[in-house]
Amino acid sequence: MLHLRRAIPIAVRTNTCRFFSASQAKLNARKGLVLGVYEKDGEDSNPHLTDTAVAFDGTVSGKLSEVLKISGPPLKKGGNRIFYGLHEDFPCVALVGLGKKDAGVCGAESWDTCKENIRAAVSSGCRLLQDLELAHVEVDSCGDAQSSAEGAILGLFQYDQLKSKKKTKVTTRLHGSGDMEAWHKGVLYGEGQNLARLLMEAPANYITPTVFANTIEEQMAPYTDRVKVHKRGQAWIEEQEMGAFLSVSKGSDEPPVFLELHYNGCPDHTQAPLLLVGKGVTFDSGGISLKPPSGMDAMRADMGGAATVCASIVTAAALKLPVNIIGLAPLCENMPSGKATKPGDVVRAKNGKTIQVDNTDAEGRLILADALCYAHTFNPRAIVNAATLTGAMDVALGSAATGVFTNSDWLWQQLHKASVVTGDRVWRMPLFQHYTKQVTHSPLADLNNIGKYSRSGGACTAAAFLKEFVTARHWAHLDIAGVMSNKDEVPYLRKGMSGRPTRTLVEFAAGLTSQV
Ligand code: BES
Ligand code: ZN
Ligand code: MG
Repeated sequence: MLHLRRAIPIAVRTNTCRFFSASQAKLNARKGLVLGVYEKDGEDSNPHLTDTAVAFDGTVSGKLSEVLKISGPPLKKGGNRIFYGLHEDFPCVALVGLGKKDAGVCGAESWDTCKENIRAAVSSGCRLLQDLELAHVEVDSCGDAQSSAEGAILGLFQYDQLKSKKKTKVTTRLHGSGDMEAWHKGVLYGEGQNLARLLMEAPANYITPTVFANTIEEQMAPYTDRVKVHKRGQAWIEEQEMGAFLSVSKGSDEPPVFLELHYNGCPDHTQAPLLLVGKGVTFDSGGISLKPPSGMDAMRADMGGAATVCASIVTAAALKLPVNIIGLAPLCENMPSGKATKPGDVVRAKNGKTIQVDNTDAEGRLILADALCYAHTFNPRAIVNAATLTGAMDVALGSAATGVFTNSDWLWQQLHKASVVTGDRVWRMPLFQHYTKQVTHSPLADLNNIGKYSRSGGACTAAAFLKEFVTARHWAHLDIAGVMSNKDEVPYLRKGMSGRPTRTLVEFAAGLTSQV
């Protein structure tokens, strides 16, 4: 079974061995400290420490600034340096470069450079100390305790559940008397994204539709006062006449699950809910339109939409956001078999529209079609769906930003505003009729599940297809295929599945609480 990291504090492995030596105990009790330093301003050659670092420097009679000065050139943004033996309580102190102090929001980059710099710097400092096998690390708020906590929690995450040799489990806490509330919020944001990363990274034989649903149910267990979890099975899905969803799941021996989460955070229970819908293909082989073998293992993360949506609702519940959210995740595998849907088959979605399935690898739009129809039954204030929908999205934007296709300027502004804060960016994409025409050309049915010119504008034709199942005034489709995994582009995420854009979804939901 998987071991999930739950809310802080993270359990530290205890050693009960009889021969556990005193020196070993001392070693395990070592604490690390991460402190920030800004890039120098103009001609001033003195290192420009953060307030917390200045206070620490005072406790060691200025030794920190002294050794920093003689240890080499000034620390640039992203740089780091470790000092040993400065302080009795903190044998290892990591100094991390924060860049310019007043960077702030950058219009061209569509993010808050200061916050991004803090996340990156703190993450690198924490990792340095983790590599030294320190189990406790205290962290400088760097003037923004939430970003600092996010950097620490995201930076330390490593999916090593299935390895014999694991990285040191590190507990992190805010150093000094900073803004604890903001720190705690950052921890929850980071842990939310880490939950999505865990679900995405885990192999498909560990995270089946059933295990996915059970895992989310377990995560929701502390919040039963405000969260209801429904795990709908095959019979319910058939009753709902979700023919498009069933056409994808039927090729697999793993039963499908339609996961439904109700989070009631708004004191006014009649407040129309925000609907979040996530694609939950726990493995996408392509079906009969089988994918080539190279890189197919990454398709274990084809449930990234469901993972980020569900993780963001877990986080909303932990934060007690005063908003009502309903989460929907159609979960299944897309597999080839004697029972699988064949190219050219025609299926009927919940709203009665018929679809010619010309490529069984364009399965995400099929399962989302039915989930979107169902989402409308809740009279939502807005519907936002997330899906690792198209390889074409990765071609278009790469991992810089999630592509957002929306019929609502208001919704676009809300999502964009949230993403500037989180640094997990979004970028608007078109929903032209031009693309709609390319998915309504089927000789046999109302719609075709692939665009007429197959490769051209693939992310846009997929979005146009989804639009055929939407009547809501405020709807956004987030194509997250390009941001699904991280190599080294986001410095505070290790290589692997990214859990993006969980924090943006949480921040977006938090933003809605101030609007009625
Ligand atoms: N899950 C894939 C999309 C994907 C590709 C996600 C790469 C993440 C990384 C999706 O189901 C798919 O296979 N889409 C096809 C659509 C095509 C057949 C129209 C694609 O992108 O090639
Ligand atoms: Zn897929
Ligand atoms: Mg596919």
